[in-house]
Amino acid sequence: MQKVRKAVFPVAGMGTRFLPATKASPKEMMPVVDKPLIQYAVEEALAAGITEMIFITGRNKRSIEDHFDKAYELEVELEAKNKQALLEILRGIIPKSVSCIYIRQPEALGLGHAVLCAKPVVGDEPFAVILADDLIDGGSTSEMKRMVDVFSDTHCSILGVEQVPQQDTGSYGIVEIQDGNGRLKITNIVEKPKPEEAPSNLAVVGRYILTPRIFHHLQHVQPGKGGEIQLTDGIFALMQEQHILAHKIIGTRYDCGSKLGYLKATMAYGMKHGEVGEEFSAYVKGLKA
Ligand code: UTP
Repeated sequence: MQKVRKAVFPVAGMGTRFLPATKASPKEMMPVVDKPLIQYAVEEALAAGITEMIFITGRNKRSIEDHFDKAYELEVELEAKNKQALLEILRGIIPKSVSCIYIRQPEALGLGHAVLCAKPVVGDEPFAVILADDLIDGGSTSEMKRMVDVFSDTHCSILGVEQVPQQDTGSYGIVEIQDGNGRLKITNIVEKPKPEEAPSNLAVVGRYILTPRIFHHLQHVQPGKGGEIQLTDGIFALMQEQHILAHKIIGTRYDCGSKLGYLKATMAYGMKHGEVGEEFSAYVKGLKA
């Protein structure tokens, strides 16, 4: 039985909803308090036992590579000033045993195309896909760990899903599910349907475990909604030959691709932050009074 050892992080999008902040730097490097979004995503994967991180990058994404690389000059400087605590934070960003691989997506042709770019490195094994702009506070454990556990039991592709307000279905892939034997089997998936056409209000959020067969389908899907190669269309084709399950997200998700979601995440993570949480919470309560 194959384990999920690899995670793909598509980070080649344009991030237009955050312009001008994302003009010269990627949205995945935007910090929530003191850590960039991509680091939270990598930490979630690490906690799920994943040891190979594959980043699908595009223009302006150098800072992501730098973030997971050794910052030699900075370390020398901190060492000279005996700032051990900061040094440990830097050195702890990613364990030495974990490998980071960067693949360039030459054009932002869509999420499905970004995932297809990982094929030469993923090969013939199941893999996770994590969208860093969906920040998930898993609570007691990493959300991806929960999904990996389901995969170990079922060996099926799994999509992270969450209920969204009916009026928001046009921003998501929406699934229809069938409950059986304690598992939620996906019976239909539609990309960004209008509320009146949506098969449900269960939206796919940025967490997936996929079998390698998805690559075959992504190679054949035609540009869909928005002229992009949609991952949803690849998953629809995969569903015709393999079972695909839904995993209802247990943690709290923040849509950090939107300004409002990003602000909510900053507030929630700020209020429970080890260094400033107490003071910030008092400040927020004061605002509400
Ligand atoms: P989004 O739909 O959020 O698009 O992509 P975006 O370009 O990042 O942001 P907006 O909508 O313009 O503000 C979902 C995820 O897929 C990645 C993005 O980086 C993001 O993590 N993506 C999207 C790619 O890697 N390549 C693509 O061609 C498209």
